[in-house]
Amino acid sequence: MRLDSTRQETEGGRQKGAGGRRRRHTQDPASHNPPIRHGILALPDEASPMAARPHQFISTPDTGVSPLSPEWHVRRRFARRLRLLGIPENLTGWSVLDIGAWHGYFSFECERRGADRVLAVDRFAWDRFGMTEFLAAHQRLGSRVEYQHVDVHELDVEAIGQFDLVLLLGVFYHLRNPLAALERIARVTKRLLICETHVLLPFIHERYPLVSFFPGDERTDEQTYDFCGIPTMTALTEMLRFTGFDDVEIVYRPSFRYWKKFVALVTTRPQSGRGIVHARPGPPRRQETGGRSAENA
Ligand SMILES: C[S@@+](CC[C@H](N)C(=O)[O-])C[C@H]1O[C@@H](n2cnc3c(N)ncnc32)[C@H](O)[C@@H]1O
Repeated sequence: MRLDSTRQETEGGRQKGAGGRRRRHTQDPASHNPPIRHGILALPDEASPMAARPHQFISTPDTGVSPLSPEWHVRRRFARRLRLLGIPENLTGWSVLDIGAWHGYFSFECERRGADRVLAVDRFAWDRFGMTEFLAAHQRLGSRVEYQHVDVHELDVEAIGQFDLVLLLGVFYHLRNPLAALERIARVTKRLLICETHVLLPFIHERYPLVSFFPGDERTDEQTYDFCGIPTMTALTEMLRFTGFDDVEIVYRPSFRYWKKFVALVTTRPQSGRGIVHARPGPPRRQETGGRSAENA
């Protein structure tokens, strides 16, 4: 099955502002697994098993192996994430940038919620193993979501404009240079950034602005949680404020936090869990809520 990619892939330099509609095909020379040939998008009939079942992905992300999880498990997990993230139900009139979109689940969901424009960007996974799922779902859904190979460290407001909603889901802990990336993200965020990431849960000093470092993203034998850098919730919120998000609201803290802190004590190894933050440029609109978690939701 084929799809003309010239309709879909946008080139930043040609597009000013979130509402821009000019598109041009760009083939990424750095792509290791290019799905685009001669301007035609070849869909992966025979490629990965995930391509055949585009919504059955992800069990151990970032290993490059992509084993399939049972469908019920994936559905439950993503339904829960959607519930916790707090993406506005009605996105009519909003433009959306999904950074690190990978399979595109959240890009397609924003399109389903009526967003005027959705741009999905990714780099690492799309260059290696992960674009087939996105493209298969894109075609299956008849989607108008635009996509570009862009590294978040190279996001350029001049090239892609600003977006009402920016999603940074499961990406922060991969960032080689988080502050520089957040500065770029702040420039392209018009209204709301939703950042979901692993946050660090040490036994003590959880409220101190700590960020772990593992060269995890550089290694092929990556261990669980040995991602590049995982911030404590305090580090995350302070970094967001420092880079231009004046209004930072914690909407979710890791579940089973105290159990994990106990494990950290026993194993002398900090644990981690999901944290979700809503960040807005401009002056604070409300007091920080402290977030909710499975223990106190
Ligand atoms: C754990 S996946 C998250 C996928 C999806 N956002 C989700 O939440 O289900 C992390 C994604 O971030 C992408 N990523 C990592 N570093 C990146 C970078 N510097 N620039 C753009 N994308 C990046 C990876 O390629 C991968 O697709």
